[in-house]
Amino acid sequence: MTADALLALEHVTKRFGRVVIAEDLSFTVGAGDVVGIVGPNGAGKTSLFGLISGDLAPDSGTVRFAGRTVTGLDPAARCRLGIGRTYQVPRPFGDMTVFENLLVAAQQGGGLRRRASYAAAAQALERAGIGAQANVPAERLGLLQRKRLELGRALATQPRLLLLDEVAGGLTDPEVAQLVDVVRGVNAEGIAVIWIEHVVRALTPVVTRLTCLAGGRFVGDGEPAAVLAEPAVREVFLGTDVSAVLAGESLDAATADGERSEP
Ligand SMILES: Nc1ncnc2c1ncn2[C@@H]1O[C@H](COP(=O)(O)OP(=O)(O)OP(=O)(O)O)[C@@H](O)[C@H]1O
Ligand SMILES: [Mg+2]
Repeated sequence: MTADALLALEHVTKRFGRVVIAEDLSFTVGAGDVVGIVGPNGAGKTSLFGLISGDLAPDSGTVRFAGRTVTGLDPAARCRLGIGRTYQVPRPFGDMTVFENLLVAAQQGGGLRRRASYAAAAQALERAGIGAQANVPAERLGLLQRKRLELGRALATQPRLLLLDEVAGGLTDPEVAQLVDVVRGVNAEGIAVIWIEHVVRALTPVVTRLTCLAGGRFVGDGEPAAVLAEPAVREVFLGTDVSAVLAGESLDAATADGERSEP
């Protein structure tokens, strides 16, 4: 672990029966990093977020955040320390308004009270670009707005590390571009980001590092084009034309994995 790492996984192992999610994984994220993670369906990407956020406990190994060991802490405690995550399948409180959802995130996730929580919710509303929907019940939102609300809820907890799980899937190109701008802005404010995404063209303009998760291990870690061109990464996405991926196809389109269960 480097001395200034914000997040460090040290020798983390996690299995679901015979499925290896993490095999002695060691991984660090610095305070200014935007790290992209790609990998085939079922590789364990979402589970990795679970290990970081505390939704999953590792079989062995240590998770450290901001200089302390958080392996034994529950998700609420980790959230209050500054680990904010979105979920691949957004589950907002449907009968509450967008603003109320953000307020709950600021209070329950961020541990903020009264005026501070309202300020955090208002800031998240602005940052996530859903100000016009502030008073709309969450169940009435379309896909883009639901994804933005998911991002807003994570931001309202005032994270130091933001975990984004496929927030670009199903969006149009201009919508993806808007999302990239939001992530760039968030990072410019000093928030580190780990972004799992099948839509690689969303990642390449903004990530400082790209890595590929497969078989419980990271394959390649570094400059995005170089990682995507690595033979071991190409092997993971067998048959993938990497130049097509870089030009704009999603890995879903470029691999034989087919459609995913996007809401
Ligand atoms: N709680 C659980 N119990 C048992 N198996 C699980 C559990 N959660 C996930 N898995 C299994 O672990 C594997 C990895 O799942 P995960 O959702 O982390 O993959 P992923 O890389 O996020 O996939 P996708 O790209 O489809 O989102 C899958 O085989 C999944 O069925
Ligand atoms: Mg997933």
